[in-house]
Amino acid sequence: MFKISSYLPTEIIFRVGAVDELEERAKKLGKKALIVTGRSSTKKTGLLQRVVDLLKKAGVESFVFDKIIPNPISDHVDEAAEIVRKEKIDFIIGLGGGSPIDSAKAISITAPNEGKFWDYVPVGGGKIPEKSIPVVAIPTTHGTGTEADPFAVITNPQTKEKVGIGYRNTFPVLSLVDPEVMKTLPKDQTAYTSMDAFYHAIESFLNVNANPYSDVLALDAMKRIVTYLPVAYENGEDMEARTNLAWASTEAGITETLTGVIANHALEHGLSGFYPEITHGLGLCITGPYLFEYIFDHAYERLAIVGREVFGVYETDDRKAGRIAIKKLRDFQEMFGLNKRLSELGVKKEDIPKMAETGYRILNGVVVVTPGNLTAKDMEEIFNRCY
Ligand SMILES: [Fe+2]
Repeated sequence: MFKISSYLPTEIIFRVGAVDELEERAKKLGKKALIVTGRSSTKKTGLLQRVVDLLKKAGVESFVFDKIIPNPISDHVDEAAEIVRKEKIDFIIGLGGGSPIDSAKAISITAPNEGKFWDYVPVGGGKIPEKSIPVVAIPTTHGTGTEADPFAVITNPQTKEKVGIGYRNTFPVLSLVDPEVMKTLPKDQTAYTSMDAFYHAIESFLNVNANPYSDVLALDAMKRIVTYLPVAYENGEDMEARTNLAWASTEAGITETLTGVIANHALEHGLSGFYPEITHGLGLCITGPYLFEYIFDHAYERLAIVGREVFGVYETDDRKAGRIAIKKLRDFQEMFGLNKRLSELGVKKEDIPKMAETGYRILNGVVVVTPGNLTAKDMEEIFNRCY
């Protein structure tokens, strides 16, 4: 029988124009803020300046850390944590895609405690962060779900370990989810981030601990993505599509918190830990269908539900409906050019055993909730099938 354990402490304000709430909210969070963002897009769109101006109106002094790269690294977390310590920052704003927001969470537990970020990573120092600084998340993409979960994904460039951490004190205190600021997201990012959200939802739905609370959100998120991603891909300014994709990302983030992803995310972390130029959403699309085929005997009943509910499959036999669901998923990914092979992306065959072993080890928590009791060898075989 199912079990539900829910801890969702983030205040989420979801609406067009939500960013403007920052002025009033910031006043209650302190006098000094560090804005953590990427190198260019929030400057180009004017959003960074808008946030600085809102903070100024609220009487909050702001500092900007704008070095965050895709697949963010622990060195930058440590560098920003030093600024937080030195300037006595009261709260941190993660502004941008998953990388700046995840980095903001990582900085928030590093700065007020001793040492470096890697000290607070289970496969690193293994310490539990006692203290944290409040984080406000302002996502500009609709995929990671980081606005509604405690997770931060950070890579150690020395060891190539791409870890996911999450503690009770790494939820944002406030998330301002504003579909308006997502309309400038380029076509390829629109597809990558939406598919990240899709995989959060489908993996949570297939998780051995899936429950009715997360199931209803997971199915809804997948349906919205299948309906609205093609629309936003063609016309990024379509606010109905952006709003639905933004909500799909947030609700898929909640499913991650309630239930969690499975081995597809471990495969992807193994892959992009070694090949950081491969975008997270693309990596998930490459390995996902092969994983589902691999665990099919243990997952077909749930895949059949996805087929019927999300892709409109009309088939009463569960095994057949499950097979069609995987085909429909591949067809959907094909619309956005996401069915690549690892060999096309420059992955070296000899790296596969290390990628599998690393993914299995650093994200073991999500491997063990995958139907079918996967081993590192199974993950290696899945990578080989994707090659
Ligand atoms: Fe993800």
